[in-house]
Amino acid sequence: MSAICDPASYDRGIPHHLFAPLRAAPGLAWIDPSPEHGDHTGFWAVTRMADLVTVSRDTGTYSSALKHIQLYDVDEDVRDVRASMIDLDPPVHTQLRRLVSSVFTPRHVARYEHAVAERIRGLLDAVEADGGGDWVTMVAKPIPIGVICDILGVPAADHGLMVEMSDHLVAGTSGEPLDPTAYGNTTPLRELPFNSPAAFGIFDYARRARQRVLDEPGDDLLSALAVAEVDGRRLTEVEYARFFQLMIFAGNETTRSAMAHLALHLAEHRHAFDAIAPDRAGLELAAEETVRYSSPILYFRRTATTDTVLADTRVAAGDKVVMYYCSANFDETVFDEPMRFDLTRPRAPANCAYGGGGAHYCLGAPLARLELAALIDEVVGRGLQVEVAGPVEYVRSNFVNGIEHLPVRVHR
Ligand code: HEM
Repeated sequence: MSAICDPASYDRGIPHHLFAPLRAAPGLAWIDPSPEHGDHTGFWAVTRMADLVTVSRDTGTYSSALKHIQLYDVDEDVRDVRASMIDLDPPVHTQLRRLVSSVFTPRHVARYEHAVAERIRGLLDAVEADGGGDWVTMVAKPIPIGVICDILGVPAADHGLMVEMSDHLVAGTSGEPLDPTAYGNTTPLRELPFNSPAAFGIFDYARRARQRVLDEPGDDLLSALAVAEVDGRRLTEVEYARFFQLMIFAGNETTRSAMAHLALHLAEHRHAFDAIAPDRAGLELAAEETVRYSSPILYFRRTATTDTVLADTRVAAGDKVVMYYCSANFDETVFDEPMRFDLTRPRAPANCAYGGGGAHYCLGAPLARLELAALIDEVVGRGLQVEVAGPVEYVRSNFVNGIEHLPVRVHR
């Protein structure tokens, strides 16, 4: 069993001691099968930045559509029913991404800036009034889900349900057995994203939301997607539901993790935060360093479509190639003192927390950057001191670097 597949290895965050030797060794690292953690075949671990960028940008050689983008393979007969655009290759991927890309450009997301800041102020007021609490529950969870739900047009009363179902998706990467009947699920788990019954709940919600917005369209993304066309036809109910599930998961879980890790950094490096240039550029660098250091998505996987050579290593058609963002973001040949948390670290060379570039580069990166900068701005601006007040509980997963609970004390 390989330690880098074991969710328990991530119980205290990124296991840097496992990745450093893999980066230092020449070629790609071969990781032996670890069936108990979802990997039955073994895989090539891509741990250095240059190799990760090569894989990310070459969708012809390294496919997202073959087999799966996580460690475990998805059977061919159910691949189509599970796939959202992140599981597809160009040109189909390109067609689908075009339907939503204009909503997530930096210029377009800037229109949410005011609402995001407002939401953050309200949540920080509440945690400050209590003198602290669980930073994850009170701050990190509600911000991103609230923002993405507003963009989608999910009513506020359902935000809690979205958080719960999204958490339950991630539970599919914990290695623990899930109740197959949860959320009224009747679909075999192998047909559902993350093998989680919560995907059934999210799909079911999406079907009802689609009908609602077709009857009463609003000025939101769910309404726009309901009438959007690909090749002269509307999305099917299933395609629509998969889009919804991707947005709910991707727009929520990742940013939340970065915001939870931010609290740990605020507690440890307060002086550095106080020294941030109080302008947009300074805040953006701080947000970027927070996301590099936390690497909320630990890895994504591709499958080689053909025999090829990467890092002087022969990769055969059908081999799994796994890009460890959480390793490449600490590549000593790219970053000066990578283990140092440096809020003034220059933007170039770029980190790969949002991907190594190419077709699948994080659609929501401009939104996540805006949310993180707004949170840092508000905490620093109001002079809020954050102290860790109890044990930090990480999400048990070999896929996301999440924090479940983070008790804090806050004061000015
Ligand atoms: C700190 C926050 C975030 C991190 C670290 C993150 C990370 C990533 C990564 C690593 C990828 C895969 C890139 C690749 O395969 O090349 C990705 C894709 C994606 N992200 Fe994010 N993400 C974040 C926030 C968001 C937000 C707020 C949204 C909101 C919509 C979002 C939506 C997506 C979507 C839809 C994709 C799939 C894009 C595609 O396949 O074309 N992400 N993200």
